[in-house]
Amino acid sequence: MTARTRARFITLEGGEGAGKSTQVARLRERIEARGHRCIATREPGGAPGAEMVRKLLVEGPAERWDGVTEALLHFAARREHLRTTVLPAIASGTWVVSDRFADSTMAYQGYGHGIDRTMLGTLYDITVGDFRPDLTLILDLPVEAGLARAASRRGKETRYESLPVDFHQRVRAGFLDIAAADPGRCVVIDATAGIDDIARTIGDALATRLGS
Ligand SMILES: Nc1ncnc2c1ncn2[C@@H]1O[C@H](COP(=O)(O)OP(=O)(O)O)[C@@H](O)[C@H]1O
Ligand SMILES: [Mg+2]
Repeated sequence: MTARTRARFITLEGGEGAGKSTQVARLRERIEARGHRCIATREPGGAPGAEMVRKLLVEGPAERWDGVTEALLHFAARREHLRTTVLPAIASGTWVVSDRFADSTMAYQGYGHGIDRTMLGTLYDITVGDFRPDLTLILDLPVEAGLARAASRRGKETRYESLPVDFHQRVRAGFLDIAAADPGRCVVIDATAGIDDIARTIGDALATRLGS
């Protein structure tokens, strides 16, 4: 008999092309195989209104927004995503795996664009409150490798990818800083490995951290 555990909120983070979307799909399958209901979702987006905001953020020229406006748009979309998708799922016992969450705003707008990190923490408190991921998996790999992987996908969602390499270096360092400051929540995963190896490492992290 398996003990019923409360539904968990798990986030995958990392730079462009780190393998987040690939691993979110794998992780959802793993969680369902263990008998839990699970949805995969993403940020920015994950709810109808939030997907509209996503288009504003991930398409078009880099200079379309400054860092503060970006942060405000990300938190607006995040609040809608939580209200409409994440919180109702968790309340009904469905696990949620999200492709990016608030650590991306801290890494991209805070570390990448240099927006005041205390202000971003305040925006989190206002728009999200006390809710936190149960586990955050940070996929880490060299920036050049991630951008090369991302470039092999074709699409319109290139606004962040088009930023200079030094921006992405600050984002990578930011994610590692966030992980070091919150080791109880975050696990850094070597994303240079193969897809199956990474999926196995993520599975081990769930077993160790969440007992499932
Ligand atoms: N571990 C891996 N090794 C090699 N290529 C990968 C790996 N994981 C994902 N990819 C490929 O790299 C590209 C980007 O992966 P994706 O999951 O879309 O990254 P992200 O969502 O983090 O931007 C895709 O073409 C994907 O198939
Ligand atoms: Mg992706």
